[in-house]
Amino acid sequence: MPATPDPDPAAQPAAPAAPVADGRPYSPGLEGVLAAETSLGLVDGANGRLMYRGYRIGDLVANGTYAAVANLLWTGTWDPRSHMAAGRVPSAVLSALRALPRTTKPMDALRTAVSVWGATQVLDWPPSEVHARAITAFSPSALAAFVRLRQDLEPIDPDPRLDLVSGFLFQLTGERPDPATARALDAYFIVGAEHGLNASTFAARVITSTRSDMASAVAGAIGAMKGPLHGGAPSEVVEQIHRVGSPEHAEQWVREALARGERLMGFGHRVYRAYDPRATALRTVVEAMPTKPDWLELAIKVEDVALRVLEEKHPDRPLKTNVEFYAAAVLQGVGLTPDLFPATFALARHAGWTAHVIEQASANRLIRPDARYVGPGERDLPA
Ligand code: ACO
Repeated sequence: MPATPDPDPAAQPAAPAAPVADGRPYSPGLEGVLAAETSLGLVDGANGRLMYRGYRIGDLVANGTYAAVANLLWTGTWDPRSHMAAGRVPSAVLSALRALPRTTKPMDALRTAVSVWGATQVLDWPPSEVHARAITAFSPSALAAFVRLRQDLEPIDPDPRLDLVSGFLFQLTGERPDPATARALDAYFIVGAEHGLNASTFAARVITSTRSDMASAVAGAIGAMKGPLHGGAPSEVVEQIHRVGSPEHAEQWVREALARGERLMGFGHRVYRAYDPRATALRTVVEAMPTKPDWLELAIKVEDVALRVLEEKHPDRPLKTNVEFYAAAVLQGVGLTPDLFPATFALARHAGWTAHVIEQASANRLIRPDARYVGPGERDLPA
Protein backbone atom coordinates (compact mmCIF):
# COMPACT_ATOMS: atom_id res chain seq x y z
CA MET A 1 0.00 0.00 0.00
CA PRO A 2 1.45 3.43 -0.88
CA ALA A 3 2.44 5.72 1.96
CA THR A 4 0.15 8.65 2.92
CA PRO A 5 0.68 11.54 0.44
CA ASP A 6 2.79 14.44 1.65
CA PRO A 7 0.31 16.86 3.31
CA ASP A 8 2.44 19.99 2.72
CA PRO A 9 1.50 21.55 -0.65
CA ALA A 10 4.31 24.14 -0.33
CA ALA A 11 6.91 21.46 -0.11
CA GLN A 12 9.41 21.13 -2.87
CA PRO A 13 8.33 18.63 -5.53
CA ALA A 14 9.45 15.25 -4.53
CA ALA A 15 12.15 13.36 -6.30
CA PRO A 16 11.17 9.77 -6.95
CA ALA A 17 11.59 7.48 -4.00
CA ALA A 18 14.82 5.62 -3.89
CA PRO A 19 14.29 2.19 -5.37
CA VAL A 20 14.90 -0.83 -3.17
CA ALA A 21 18.27 -1.95 -4.36
CA ASP A 22 18.49 -5.37 -2.82
CA GLY A 23 15.32 -6.88 -4.33
CA ARG A 24 14.10 -8.29 -1.05
CA PRO A 25 10.51 -9.59 -1.25
CA TYR A 26 7.78 -7.52 0.42
CA SER A 27 4.85 -9.40 1.91
CA PRO A 28 2.02 -7.14 3.13
CA GLY A 29 0.79 -8.38 6.49
CA LEU A 30 3.87 -10.64 6.62
CA GLU A 31 1.71 -13.29 4.99
CA GLY A 32 3.74 -16.39 4.26
CA VAL A 33 6.80 -15.00 6.08
CA LEU A 34 8.42 -17.30 8.65
CA ALA A 35 9.13 -15.00 11.59
CA ALA A 36 9.73 -17.44 14.45
CA GLU A 37 10.39 -21.05 15.33
CA THR A 38 8.04 -22.62 17.84
CA SER A 39 7.54 -25.98 19.47
CA LEU A 40 4.18 -24.96 20.96
CA GLY A 41 1.38 -25.21 18.40
CA LEU A 42 1.13 -26.68 14.90
CA VAL A 43 -1.68 -25.25 12.77
CA ASP A 44 -1.98 -27.51 9.70
CA GLY A 45 -4.54 -25.64 7.64
CA ALA A 46 -4.48 -27.92 4.60
CA ASN A 47 -5.36 -31.01 6.59
CA GLY A 48 -7.47 -29.39 9.32
CA ARG A 49 -5.14 -30.40 12.14
CA LEU A 50 -4.19 -28.49 15.30
CA MET A 51 -1.69 -29.84 17.81
CA TYR A 52 -0.19 -28.48 21.01
CA ARG A 53 3.35 -29.84 21.42
CA GLY A 54 2.37 -32.68 19.10
CA TYR A 55 -0.82 -33.69 20.89
CA ARG A 56 -4.04 -33.53 18.84
CA ILE A 57 -6.55 -30.89 19.96
CA GLY A 58 -9.41 -33.44 19.97
CA ASP A 59 -7.48 -35.70 22.36
CA LEU A 60 -6.60 -32.78 24.62
CA VAL A 61 -10.24 -31.71 24.83
CA ALA A 62 -11.45 -35.27 25.44
CA ASN A 63 -8.87 -36.14 28.09
CA GLY A 64 -7.43 -32.94 29.49
CA THR A 65 -8.18 -29.80 31.40
CA TYR A 66 -7.16 -26.21 30.75
CA ALA A 67 -4.74 -26.42 33.68
CA ALA A 68 -3.06 -29.48 32.15
CA VAL A 69 -2.94 -27.86 28.71
CA ALA A 70 -1.46 -24.63 30.07
CA ASN A 71 1.11 -26.66 32.00
CA LEU A 72 1.91 -28.58 28.80
CA LEU A 73 2.43 -25.35 26.87
CA TRP A 74 4.62 -23.82 29.58
CA THR A 75 6.71 -26.87 30.51
CA GLY A 76 6.37 -29.39 27.67
CA THR A 77 5.18 -32.00 30.17
CA TRP A 78 1.74 -33.64 30.13
CA ASP A 79 0.40 -33.87 33.67
CA PRO A 80 -3.36 -34.48 33.72
CA ARG A 81 -3.42 -33.82 37.50
CA SER A 82 -2.31 -30.18 37.07
CA HIS A 83 -4.35 -27.74 39.13
CA MET A 84 -4.65 -24.00 38.69
CA ALA A 85 -7.01 -21.85 40.74
CA ALA A 86 -8.11 -18.29 39.98
CA GLY A 87 -5.80 -15.66 41.46
CA ARG A 88 -6.30 -12.73 43.80
CA VAL A 89 -7.00 -9.25 42.41
CA PRO A 90 -4.70 -6.64 44.03
CA SER A 91 -6.44 -3.62 45.54
CA ALA A 92 -4.80 -1.28 43.01
CA VAL A 93 -6.49 -3.24 40.21
CA LEU A 94 -9.86 -3.16 42.00
CA SER A 95 -9.53 0.63 42.44
CA ALA A 96 -8.80 1.02 38.72
CA LEU A 97 -11.75 -1.19 37.77
CA ARG A 98 -14.06 0.75 40.09
CA ALA A 99 -13.00 3.97 38.34
CA LEU A 100 -13.94 2.72 34.86
CA PRO A 101 -17.23 3.80 33.28
CA ARG A 102 -19.84 1.03 33.32
CA THR A 103 -19.95 1.23 29.55
CA THR A 104 -16.30 0.15 29.28
CA LYS A 105 -15.91 -2.80 26.93
CA PRO A 106 -14.79 -5.92 28.81
CA MET A 107 -11.68 -6.18 26.59
CA ASP A 108 -10.68 -2.63 27.59
CA ALA A 109 -11.28 -3.44 31.25
CA LEU A 110 -9.17 -6.60 30.97
CA ARG A 111 -6.33 -4.77 29.22
CA THR A 112 -6.42 -2.07 31.92
CA ALA A 113 -6.47 -4.65 34.70
CA VAL A 114 -3.45 -6.46 33.26
CA SER A 115 -1.57 -3.20 32.93
CA VAL A 116 -2.27 -2.17 36.55
CA TRP A 117 -1.47 -5.70 37.75
CA GLY A 118 1.91 -5.45 36.00
CA ALA A 119 2.62 -2.24 37.90
CA THR A 120 2.08 -4.08 41.20
CA GLN A 121 4.41 -7.01 40.41
CA VAL A 122 8.14 -7.58 40.18
CA LEU A 123 8.47 -9.12 36.73
CA ASP A 124 12.19 -9.50 36.11
CA TRP A 125 13.81 -10.60 32.87
CA PRO A 126 13.56 -13.27 31.65
CA PRO A 127 9.81 -13.89 31.84
CA SER A 128 9.21 -17.24 33.49
CA GLU A 129 6.65 -19.95 34.08
CA VAL A 130 5.99 -18.31 37.47
CA HIS A 131 4.95 -15.08 35.73
CA ALA A 132 2.88 -17.08 33.22
CA ARG A 133 0.97 -18.91 35.98
CA ALA A 134 0.40 -15.72 37.94
CA ILE A 135 -1.06 -13.68 35.09
CA THR A 136 -3.14 -16.57 33.71
CA ALA A 137 -4.66 -17.06 37.18
CA PHE A 138 -5.16 -13.34 37.77
CA SER A 139 -7.02 -12.33 34.60
CA PRO A 140 -10.24 -14.39 35.02
CA SER A 141 -10.66 -12.94 38.54
CA ALA A 142 -10.10 -9.42 37.22
CA LEU A 143 -12.64 -9.83 34.41
CA ALA A 144 -15.20 -11.33 36.82
CA ALA A 145 -14.60 -8.43 39.24
CA PHE A 146 -15.25 -5.90 36.48
CA VAL A 147 -18.45 -7.64 35.40
CA ARG A 148 -19.76 -7.54 38.99
CA LEU A 149 -18.71 -3.94 39.58
CA ARG A 150 -20.56 -2.75 36.50
CA GLN A 151 -23.70 -4.41 37.94
CA ASP A 152 -23.18 -2.67 41.31
CA LEU A 153 -22.16 -5.98 42.89
CA GLU A 154 -19.05 -6.51 44.98
CA PRO A 155 -16.29 -8.76 43.55
CA ILE A 156 -16.04 -12.27 44.97
CA ASP A 157 -12.75 -13.65 46.33
CA PRO A 158 -11.37 -16.67 44.46
CA ASP A 159 -11.95 -20.12 45.93
CA PRO A 160 -8.58 -21.96 45.78
CA ARG A 161 -10.33 -25.35 45.69
CA LEU A 162 -11.97 -24.58 42.34
CA ASP A 163 -10.10 -24.85 39.06
CA LEU A 164 -9.56 -21.73 37.00
CA VAL A 165 -12.64 -22.02 34.80
CA SER A 166 -15.03 -23.06 37.60
CA GLY A 167 -13.53 -20.29 39.69
CA PHE A 168 -14.19 -17.76 36.93
CA LEU A 169 -17.85 -18.78 36.71
CA PHE A 170 -18.10 -18.74 40.52
CA GLN A 171 -16.60 -15.25 40.71
CA LEU A 172 -19.04 -14.05 38.04
CA THR A 173 -22.21 -15.43 39.57
CA GLY A 174 -21.49 -16.29 43.21
CA GLU A 175 -22.63 -19.85 42.51
CA ARG A 176 -20.49 -22.92 42.01
CA PRO A 177 -21.14 -24.11 38.43
CA ASP A 178 -22.39 -27.63 37.82
CA PRO A 179 -19.57 -29.90 36.58
CA ALA A 180 -20.97 -30.26 33.04
CA THR A 181 -21.17 -26.48 32.56
CA ALA A 182 -17.66 -25.97 33.90
CA ARG A 183 -16.42 -28.81 31.70
CA ALA A 184 -17.91 -27.19 28.57
CA LEU A 185 -16.22 -23.84 29.26
CA ASP A 186 -12.98 -25.62 30.15
CA ALA A 187 -13.09 -27.30 26.72
CA TYR A 188 -13.56 -23.88 25.10
CA PHE A 189 -10.51 -22.62 27.03
CA ILE A 190 -8.49 -25.59 25.74
CA VAL A 191 -9.33 -24.94 22.08
CA GLY A 192 -8.66 -21.22 22.55
CA ALA A 193 -5.34 -21.68 24.35
CA GLU A 194 -2.95 -21.55 21.41
CA HIS A 195 -2.98 -21.00 17.65
CA GLY A 196 0.47 -20.39 16.24
CA LEU A 197 1.76 -16.98 15.24
CA ASN A 198 -1.56 -15.13 15.06
CA ALA A 199 -1.55 -11.33 15.41
CA SER A 200 -1.88 -11.13 19.19
CA THR A 201 0.73 -13.82 19.81
CA PHE A 202 3.08 -12.07 17.40
CA ALA A 203 2.45 -8.80 19.26
CA ALA A 204 3.35 -10.53 22.54
CA ARG A 205 6.56 -11.89 21.01
CA VAL A 206 7.52 -8.49 19.55
CA ILE A 207 7.07 -6.84 22.97
CA THR A 208 9.05 -9.61 24.67
CA SER A 209 11.84 -9.30 22.11
CA THR A 210 12.63 -5.83 23.49
CA ARG A 211 13.20 -7.51 26.90
CA SER A 212 9.97 -6.05 28.20
CA ASP A 213 7.96 -7.98 30.82
CA MET A 214 5.14 -10.54 30.82
CA ALA A 215 2.38 -8.06 31.78
CA SER A 216 3.36 -5.65 28.99
CA ALA A 217 3.36 -8.51 26.47
CA VAL A 218 -0.09 -9.73 27.58
CA ALA A 219 -1.55 -6.20 27.68
CA GLY A 220 -0.28 -5.65 24.12
CA ALA A 221 -1.67 -9.00 23.02
CA ILE A 222 -5.10 -8.09 24.42
CA GLY A 223 -4.92 -4.84 22.47
CA ALA A 224 -4.17 -6.77 19.28
CA MET A 225 -6.93 -9.29 19.92
CA LYS A 226 -9.47 -6.55 20.53
CA GLY A 227 -9.62 -5.71 16.82
CA PRO A 228 -12.57 -7.29 15.00
CA LEU A 229 -10.31 -8.90 12.43
CA HIS A 230 -8.74 -11.02 15.14
CA GLY A 231 -10.89 -11.34 18.25
CA GLY A 232 -13.45 -13.07 16.14
CA ALA A 233 -17.09 -12.50 16.67
CA PRO A 234 -18.97 -15.53 17.93
CA SER A 235 -21.62 -13.01 18.94
CA GLU A 236 -22.16 -12.31 15.25
CA VAL A 237 -22.87 -16.01 14.76
CA VAL A 238 -25.64 -15.72 17.32
CA GLU A 239 -27.08 -12.62 15.63
CA GLN A 240 -27.00 -14.35 12.26
CA ILE A 241 -28.81 -17.42 13.53
CA HIS A 242 -31.48 -15.16 15.02
CA ARG A 243 -31.85 -13.39 11.68
CA VAL A 244 -32.43 -16.74 9.92
CA GLY A 245 -35.35 -17.23 12.31
CA SER A 246 -36.51 -20.78 11.53
CA PRO A 247 -35.16 -23.96 9.87
CA GLU A 248 -37.47 -23.71 6.86
CA HIS A 249 -36.03 -20.27 6.05
CA ALA A 250 -32.40 -21.38 6.33
CA GLU A 251 -31.75 -22.15 2.66
CA GLN A 252 -33.44 -19.01 1.35
CA TRP A 253 -31.70 -16.84 3.97
CA VAL A 254 -28.25 -18.25 3.19
CA ARG A 255 -28.68 -17.83 -0.57
CA GLU A 256 -29.97 -14.27 -0.21
CA ALA A 257 -27.16 -13.29 2.19
CA LEU A 258 -24.54 -14.59 -0.22
CA ALA A 259 -26.28 -12.84 -3.14
CA ARG A 260 -26.00 -9.57 -1.17
CA GLY A 261 -22.25 -10.26 -0.85
CA GLU A 262 -22.43 -10.94 2.88
CA ARG A 263 -20.11 -13.33 4.68
CA LEU A 264 -21.57 -16.20 6.62
CA MET A 265 -20.30 -15.89 10.16
CA GLY A 266 -18.52 -18.95 11.49
CA PHE A 267 -17.37 -20.14 8.06
CA GLY A 268 -14.05 -19.80 6.21
CA HIS A 269 -10.59 -19.27 7.68
CA ARG A 270 -7.31 -17.73 6.54
CA VAL A 271 -5.36 -20.89 7.35
CA TYR A 272 -7.78 -23.82 7.45
CA ARG A 273 -8.93 -25.24 4.13
CA ALA A 274 -10.73 -28.05 5.93
CA TYR A 275 -13.27 -28.25 8.77
CA ASP A 276 -11.68 -26.42 11.70
CA PRO A 277 -10.59 -29.13 14.18
CA ARG A 278 -11.56 -26.80 17.04
CA ALA A 279 -15.12 -26.67 15.67
CA THR A 280 -15.19 -30.49 15.59
CA ALA A 281 -14.07 -30.66 19.22
CA LEU A 282 -16.52 -27.98 20.38
CA ARG A 283 -19.44 -29.51 18.51
CA THR A 284 -18.96 -32.69 20.56
CA VAL A 285 -18.83 -30.57 23.72
CA VAL A 286 -22.00 -28.67 22.78
CA GLU A 287 -23.91 -31.88 22.15
CA ALA A 288 -23.08 -33.02 25.71
CA MET A 289 -24.02 -29.74 27.41
CA PRO A 290 -26.83 -29.87 29.97
CA THR A 291 -28.25 -26.50 28.90
CA LYS A 292 -27.96 -25.83 25.21
CA PRO A 293 -28.87 -22.49 23.66
CA ASP A 294 -32.41 -22.61 22.30
CA TRP A 295 -31.09 -21.76 18.83
CA LEU A 296 -28.72 -24.76 18.61
CA GLU A 297 -31.00 -26.94 16.50
CA LEU A 298 -31.49 -24.09 14.08
CA ALA A 299 -27.70 -23.48 14.01
CA ILE A 300 -27.06 -27.10 13.01
CA LYS A 301 -29.56 -26.74 10.16
CA VAL A 302 -27.92 -23.45 9.08
CA GLU A 303 -24.52 -25.14 9.13
CA ASP A 304 -25.70 -27.98 6.86
CA VAL A 305 -27.21 -25.55 4.38
CA ALA A 306 -24.28 -23.12 4.50
CA LEU A 307 -21.67 -25.83 3.86
CA ARG A 308 -23.64 -27.09 0.86
CA VAL A 309 -24.27 -23.64 -0.64
CA LEU A 310 -20.69 -22.41 -0.01
CA GLU A 311 -19.34 -25.49 -1.80
CA GLU A 312 -21.68 -24.81 -4.70
CA LYS A 313 -20.58 -21.13 -4.91
CA HIS A 314 -16.86 -21.69 -4.30
CA PRO A 315 -16.06 -25.15 -5.70
CA ASP A 316 -12.32 -24.32 -5.83
CA ARG A 317 -12.00 -22.76 -2.36
CA PRO A 318 -13.06 -24.94 0.55
CA LEU A 319 -15.03 -22.78 3.01
CA LYS A 320 -15.82 -24.87 6.07
CA THR A 321 -17.11 -24.29 9.58
CA ASN A 322 -14.65 -22.43 11.80
CA VAL A 323 -14.22 -22.42 15.58
CA GLU A 324 -16.49 -19.41 16.10
CA PHE A 325 -19.61 -21.30 15.05
CA TYR A 326 -19.65 -23.69 18.00
CA ALA A 327 -17.78 -21.33 20.35
CA ALA A 328 -20.89 -19.17 20.29
CA ALA A 329 -23.02 -22.11 21.41
CA VAL A 330 -20.66 -23.04 24.26
CA LEU A 331 -20.27 -19.48 25.54
CA GLN A 332 -23.97 -18.76 25.48
CA GLY A 333 -24.81 -22.22 26.82
CA VAL A 334 -22.69 -21.61 29.95
CA GLY A 335 -24.53 -18.33 30.52
CA LEU A 336 -22.06 -15.70 29.28
CA THR A 337 -23.48 -12.64 27.59
CA PRO A 338 -22.23 -11.93 24.05
CA ASP A 339 -20.31 -8.82 25.14
CA LEU A 340 -18.09 -11.11 27.24
CA PHE A 341 -17.19 -13.45 24.37
CA PRO A 342 -14.05 -11.60 23.13
CA ALA A 343 -12.62 -11.13 26.65
CA THR A 344 -13.31 -14.79 27.47
CA PHE A 345 -11.38 -15.74 24.33
CA ALA A 346 -8.53 -13.55 25.61
CA LEU A 347 -8.57 -15.38 28.97
CA ALA A 348 -8.25 -18.70 27.17
CA ARG A 349 -5.38 -17.44 25.00
CA HIS A 350 -3.33 -16.43 28.07
CA ALA A 351 -1.74 -19.90 28.16
CA GLY A 352 -0.52 -19.61 24.56
CA TRP A 353 0.57 -15.97 24.80
CA THR A 354 2.60 -16.56 27.93
CA ALA A 355 4.14 -19.77 26.55
CA HIS A 356 5.23 -17.82 23.46
CA VAL A 357 6.66 -15.08 25.69
CA ILE A 358 8.79 -17.68 27.52
CA GLU A 359 9.81 -19.30 24.23
CA GLN A 360 10.73 -15.94 22.67
CA ALA A 361 12.80 -14.95 25.70
CA SER A 362 14.63 -18.29 25.74
CA ALA A 363 16.25 -17.58 22.35
CA ASN A 364 15.68 -13.88 22.07
CA ARG A 365 16.44 -11.78 19.06
CA LEU A 366 14.98 -8.26 18.85
CA ILE A 367 12.15 -8.38 16.28
CA ARG A 368 12.80 -5.46 14.00
CA PRO A 369 11.81 -5.92 10.36
CA ASP A 370 12.37 -3.32 7.66
CA ALA A 371 9.87 -1.18 5.80
CA ARG A 372 10.19 -0.40 2.10
CA TYR A 373 10.39 3.38 1.88
CA VAL A 374 7.94 4.73 -0.72
CA GLY A 375 7.92 8.42 0.34
CA PRO A 376 9.50 11.40 -1.41
CA GLY A 377 13.17 11.32 -2.37
CA GLU A 378 15.74 13.52 -0.66
CA ARG A 379 14.84 17.26 -0.76
CA ASP A 380 15.39 20.61 0.97
CA LEU A 381 12.95 22.10 3.50
CA PRO A 382 10.83 24.90 1.96
CA ALA A 383 12.43 28.36 2.55
N1 ACO B 1 -19.02 -16.48 3.69
C1 ACO B 1 -19.15 -16.26 2.36
N2 ACO B 1 -18.11 -16.17 1.53
C2 ACO B 1 -16.88 -16.28 2.06
C3 ACO B 1 -16.69 -16.50 3.43
C4 ACO B 1 -17.82 -16.60 4.27
N3 ACO B 1 -17.71 -16.81 5.56
N4 ACO B 1 -15.36 -16.57 3.69
C5 ACO B 1 -14.74 -16.39 2.51
N5 ACO B 1 -15.66 -16.22 1.53
C6 ACO B 1 -15.41 -16.02 0.11
C7 ACO B 1 -15.01 -14.59 -0.17
O1 ACO B 1 -16.14 -13.78 -0.44
C8 ACO B 1 -14.11 -14.72 -1.35
O2 ACO B 1 -14.90 -14.89 -2.51
P1 ACO B 1 -14.46 -14.25 -3.94
O3 ACO B 1 -13.15 -14.92 -4.25
O4 ACO B 1 -15.58 -14.62 -4.83
O5 ACO B 1 -14.31 -12.79 -3.67
C9 ACO B 1 -13.39 -16.04 -1.09
O6 ACO B 1 -14.26 -16.80 -0.24
C10 ACO B 1 -12.06 -15.86 -0.38
O7 ACO B 1 -12.21 -14.92 0.67
P2 ACO B 1 -10.97 -14.30 1.48
O8 ACO B 1 -11.43 -13.09 2.22
O9 ACO B 1 -9.79 -14.14 0.58
O10 ACO B 1 -10.68 -15.45 2.48
P3 ACO B 1 -9.77 -15.36 3.73
O11 ACO B 1 -9.24 -16.71 3.89
O12 ACO B 1 -8.82 -14.25 3.69
O13 ACO B 1 -10.85 -15.00 4.86
C11 ACO B 1 -12.07 -14.99 6.86
C12 ACO B 1 -10.89 -15.59 6.10
C13 ACO B 1 -11.79 -13.49 7.13
C14 ACO B 1 -12.18 -15.72 8.22
C15 ACO B 1 -13.37 -15.17 6.05
O14 ACO B 1 -13.56 -16.53 5.74
C16 ACO B 1 -14.59 -14.58 6.74
O15 ACO B 1 -14.84 -13.39 6.63
N6 ACO B 1 -15.39 -15.44 7.47
C17 ACO B 1 -16.55 -14.94 8.17
C18 ACO B 1 -16.18 -14.33 9.53
C19 ACO B 1 -15.73 -15.39 10.53
O16 ACO B 1 -16.30 -16.46 10.66
N7 ACO B 1 -14.65 -15.04 11.26
C20 ACO B 1 -14.04 -15.91 12.25
C21 ACO B 1 -12.79 -16.55 11.72
S1 ACO B 1 -12.07 -17.70 12.83
C22 ACO B 1 -11.20 -16.79 13.93
O17 ACO B 1 -10.93 -15.63 13.73
C23 ACO B 1 -10.70 -17.40 15.21
